Amino acid sequence: WLNKLLADLFPKPLSTEPPVSFRVSVYFASQSGTAERLAKKMSKLLKEAGHAPKVQSVESLSLSALAQETYALFFASTYGDGEPPENACVFRDALFSDNAPRLQALRYAVFCLGDRAYEHFCQFGIELDDRLNSLGASRITARVESDLDVDTAFSAWSSQFLKAFCDFGPKSSEAAQVTTSPAAANLTHTRENPYHAPLVDKRLLTHPSSSKQTVHVGFDLTDAELQYEAGDACGVLAENDPALVDEILELLSFSPSDTAILPKSGPLTVEQLLRHHLQITKLTRKVVQRFAEKAECQTLSTLLIAETGELETYLYGRGLIDLLHAYPGVLSNAAELVELLPRLTPRLYSISSSPTAHGRELHCTIGVVNYTAHGRDRGGVASTMLGQRMEIGARVPIYLHPNKRFRLPKNSEAPIIMIGPGTGVAPFRAFLHERRALGHTGKNWLFFGERSAETDFLYCCEMKSFVDDGHLTRFDTAFSRDQAHKVYVQDRMLESGAELFRWLNDGASLYVCGDASRMAKDVDVALHRIVSMHGNLTNEAAQEYVSALHDENRYHRDVY
Ligand code: 2AM
Repeated sequence: WLNKLLADLFPKPLSTEPPVSFRVSVYFASQSGTAERLAKKMSKLLKEAGHAPKVQSVESLSLSALAQETYALFFASTYGDGEPPENACVFRDALFSDNAPRLQALRYAVFCLGDRAYEHFCQFGIELDDRLNSLGASRITARVESDLDVDTAFSAWSSQFLKAFCDFGPKSSEAAQVTTSPAAANLTHTRENPYHAPLVDKRLLTHPSSSKQTVHVGFDLTDAELQYEAGDACGVLAENDPALVDEILELLSFSPSDTAILPKSGPLTVEQLLRHHLQITKLTRKVVQRFAEKAECQTLSTLLIAETGELETYLYGRGLIDLLHAYPGVLSNAAELVELLPRLTPRLYSISSSPTAHGRELHCTIGVVNYTAHGRDRGGVASTMLGQRMEIGARVPIYLHPNKRFRLPKNSEAPIIMIGPGTGVAPFRAFLHERRALGHTGKNWLFFGERSAETDFLYCCEMKSFVDDGHLTRFDTAFSRDQAHKVYVQDRMLESGAELFRWLNDGASLYVCGDASRMAKDVDVALHRIVSMHGNLTNEAAQEYVSALHDENRYHRDVY
């Protein structure tokens, strides 16, 4: 009787699959004890999640033992001049020795602790992460480089890690450790560890006579365990134009075989640096400042203190090559080049395909940067690499960049209004295909703008077919240079203001993608005007209406 009463009072939770329990080693390389504290905290969280963690200092860790492990976490401090903590030196030497074993069976993650005030911020953690990876181990999550506020970084990372770890591998057996879940797979391909995707499609969307060049590219994801959603972006790790690199190498007054060390990559030759790691196509104030100091150059120093935009005029279109031409012999080795230039960063493109409609092919819509300035042809980095140098069949290092705030409404019947001039149309092509493939019945309204209908009407046929079959309920175009005066998307919005306001009142979500510096601002102003005019509202009340759209997750912007 008592047992029955207790069972009634405290019913067991509904039985689900048994929790998956993994043995995880949690290692710390600690100088002052913070890394050790975090390792213990993580161990507690892992225990609570049903796993079997074991906390240990790397001091007593041998590589042969590590090679036997399946899951390991590292909390690694850096101190002084990029040094590991004292108790980690033996482990570090073994790890970097030539006869270190391969670690293919190991899945790991590194949480780096450092202090940004020091030049070699988080260096030991970064080296550890890269070295484990180059020995064949694979990352469960991307490494974190935490600054002094380690606890905030820890909370964010630990919950992300636990989620990825839960999703990691088939639920039934510890032995099966393949990355089958999308969450874990996406985290495996990061900017540090991209997927080399075959380029399977490439075509010009603009007419050859256009003043612009916009290309459509397709990557094959068949062999990649990458999953994306409509609205996400794709990161491309581009390399600089080899012809420009060669020209720069000729201008340098030191040997191309000279090397310099980058924290995440070890020693690299000047050519490797220029090709893959340094931003050479653009100059910034900081670069000019550093160069002026090195060259003791009065002309550049004067530019830096000028107040009337002279520096901006000088920077426009200029790159490293212009400095080298104008002031030869200033740089004397690879290390100085590394000190001078910022790192080359990946470029993000909104994905223009729909995962449901386009299967394993991922599309991007790329405006190719190409212009002439100061007597020479100039290009972008990723856009010219993809648009001009790479041919179908090439492999391009990419990774996914989720854009959780730019998603279709969950309600399949909700209307959407999309404003995407130029390449800003990319995610809306994705949305339109996705909604059609999923059978969403909500109304769709697209505003598209470009220079000229004849030459720049991106995805013209597709859009027309969406109009013909009624999927695109309204399609408004603004071809800015097809008449004497400029017409922009926001002008079209204002022309149809009454209807646009009705759509909003009917629950429509509004999306804007494209140029942040002018277009997105002007569109925002137009939106406020429409709300105020057609809702008969004061400016303040219109502002509140638009804020409410934000709050209700119905005003989304992906602007750059
Ligand atoms: P323009 O280059 O003829 O001025 C895509 O680049 C389209 O956006 C082009 O038609 C471009 O016009 C237009 N555009 C330029 N500035 C804009 C702005 N402030 N707002 C909206 N569209 C703009």
